[in-house]
Amino acid sequence: FLHKIVLGIETSCDDTAAAVVDETGNVLGEAIHSQTEVHLRTGGIVPPAAQQLHRENIQRIVQEALSASRISPSDLSAIATTIKPGLALSLGVGLSFSLQLVGQLKKPFIPIHHMEAHALTIRLTNKVEFPFLVLLISGGHCLLALVQGVSDFLLLGKSLDIAPGDMLDKVARRLSLIKHPECSTMSGGKAIEHLAKQGNRFHFDIKPPLHHAKNCDFSFTGLQHVTDKIIMKKEKEEGIEKGQILSSAADIAATVQHTMACHLVKRTHRAILFCKQRDLLPQNNAVLVASGGVASNFYIRRALEILTNATQCTLLCPPPRLCTDNGIMIAWNGIERLRAGLGILHDIEGIRYEPK
Ligand code: KG4
Ligand code: ZN
Repeated sequence: FLHKIVLGIETSCDDTAAAVVDETGNVLGEAIHSQTEVHLRTGGIVPPAAQQLHRENIQRIVQEALSASRISPSDLSAIATTIKPGLALSLGVGLSFSLQLVGQLKKPFIPIHHMEAHALTIRLTNKVEFPFLVLLISGGHCLLALVQGVSDFLLLGKSLDIAPGDMLDKVARRLSLIKHPECSTMSGGKAIEHLAKQGNRFHFDIKPPLHHAKNCDFSFTGLQHVTDKIIMKKEKEEGIEKGQILSSAADIAATVQHTMACHLVKRTHRAILFCKQRDLLPQNNAVLVASGGVASNFYIRRALEILTNATQCTLLCPPPRLCTDNGIMIAWNGIERLRAGLGILHDIEGIRYEPK
């Protein structure tokens, strides 16, 4: 008796990742190459540089995942790959590589939506039935959706401007945290979380964005600009140059993290009430899933937990390494799609290869 086994490939942003997962959720093999450190040095992701790094690593990463799994590639049921959304140049590398492999191995191809994969990861680690609510917060995305099936999403809210992780990355850059001895190799969001532990969030007072908006949308540029102003004021007060570490950096990090958490909680609260009023979610024990890179933040998780406790819901988060981009979530989404009989392409004609 052979389980279904899927190879998943992810290159939508700045992680080259691959994994082999079986039908029961066993991770047979995985490999990942993160470009975070390189992009930290250039002050953000430069798409052609990301593309180049994906090209340099994709072969090795897929090979590592396959070797670790100890299966023969001929035992694969299908190859699943992120096709959107993401940086076009980055996506192209993964897609091109997979389509070549699909041709060589003569396997079905499963195109994966990156956000759908983030949303369904929880079903690999926990027994979660549809429907459930999902809050996806990362460097590129911010959305609240009701997940009613493997490919059935009701979008309830999204960011009107930038994503929360992007905002944290910009604040971290403005605070020059890359020069901070404790967090020089961390992503912006992780650096803010680390520093916030040593800070006082009551030192500054920032109002959460979209305070009166009667919907579930998000906004983060306002918070970023207010924070920029605080940083400028503090630089003057402390008499330091732009690019040096403020002595109040930890307090600023704590304030930004706290204000962001309040905003996320308020919008999610509205979504829970909306769904319960319309019987889209059960009145008791409804599940809220939080995922995406920013959901690996424990302060934000704790804030969401306070909300779910108060609304008779349950908060579930994938472990941090499955919250950030990875190949496992792509392979698992492939398994979900195979099981649901969805979106399997036996004929790869018509799918665009990487532009040369
Ligand atoms: O999901 P992800 O790996 O990539 C996409 O954006 O799709 O998320 C990366 C984002 C970055 O902006 C990073 O700063 C943020 O997630 N992040 C965090 C934490 N770890 C990563 N934000 C807050 N707290 C963290 N611990
Ligand atoms: Zn992601």
